[in-house]
Amino acid sequence: MPINLILLGPPGAGKGTQSSRLEDAHGMVQLSTGDMLRAAVKAETPLGLEAKAVMAAGDLVSDDIVSGLIGERLDQLGADTGVIFDGYPRTRAQAEALDALLAERGRHLDHVIELVVDEDALVDRITGRFTCAACGAGYHDRYKQPLEAGVCDVCGGTDFKRRPDDTEETVRKRMAEYRAKTAPILPLYDARGIVSRVDGMANIDAVTQSIEGILDAG
Ligand code: AP5
Repeated sequence: MPINLILLGPPGAGKGTQSSRLEDAHGMVQLSTGDMLRAAVKAETPLGLEAKAVMAAGDLVSDDIVSGLIGERLDQLGADTGVIFDGYPRTRAQAEALDALLAERGRHLDHVIELVVDEDALVDRITGRFTCAACGAGYHDRYKQPLEAGVCDVCGGTDFKRRPDDTEETVRKRMAEYRAKTAPILPLYDARGIVSRVDGMANIDAVTQSIEGILDAG
């Protein structure tokens, strides 16, 4: 049976970083609603035009839109492909929608992994991060510079970019949204006994090891 797991944590907790490692190690597929929305903004689709200002303000895009995106992507996957939900669900309505989306497709939620972090440190993580403009590989001013300055380790690209919502003011708004709307869904999953908590302040490799330990334990 494929593994289906949610990586949960506030902005900058490391969900994207760990998702791409899980993809590489286990052949799973990361479904990031943030990435999907950014792609729609870039392509200037009607959805992207609607989402652009909402995201720039650090607010949440509507539940129906993001759950629709997730449903479409799930339908494109083979039944035996495991999924990492990154940045979804973010509200109680989304959590309920995900239950229905999985059940309709004969899938089962195996793990909710919460990355437990210190919010003040996250502002530093987020305002320091940047990605390769060509391949999207992620870096950080202090924690993860390219091996050769100015050259992407993965594709050799030399252009890098920063997200428009990675300002301190917007990050604080995104964190407030997380506390108000996303953290309250954890008890739903606690009641099912599927939540594991990982110290997201440990270094990136140590966080990966902890997640691997959870998957090994089944
Ligand atoms: P989204 O793209 O999901 O952003 P987010 O949840 O705010 O999360 P981030 O991508 O900022 O952080 P991350 O946890 O992935 O951290 P990362 O691995 O990059 O959402 C953006 C917006 O889209 C939302 O505000 C909303 O408007 C909208 N949206 C998206 N989904 C939605 C939904 N479901 N419903 C409604 N609206 C939605 O790490 C951060 C940095 O830290 C990196 O530089 C990394 O190298 C570094 N780092 C990572 N781990 C460590 C570590 N252990 N130690 C040191 N550095 C580390």
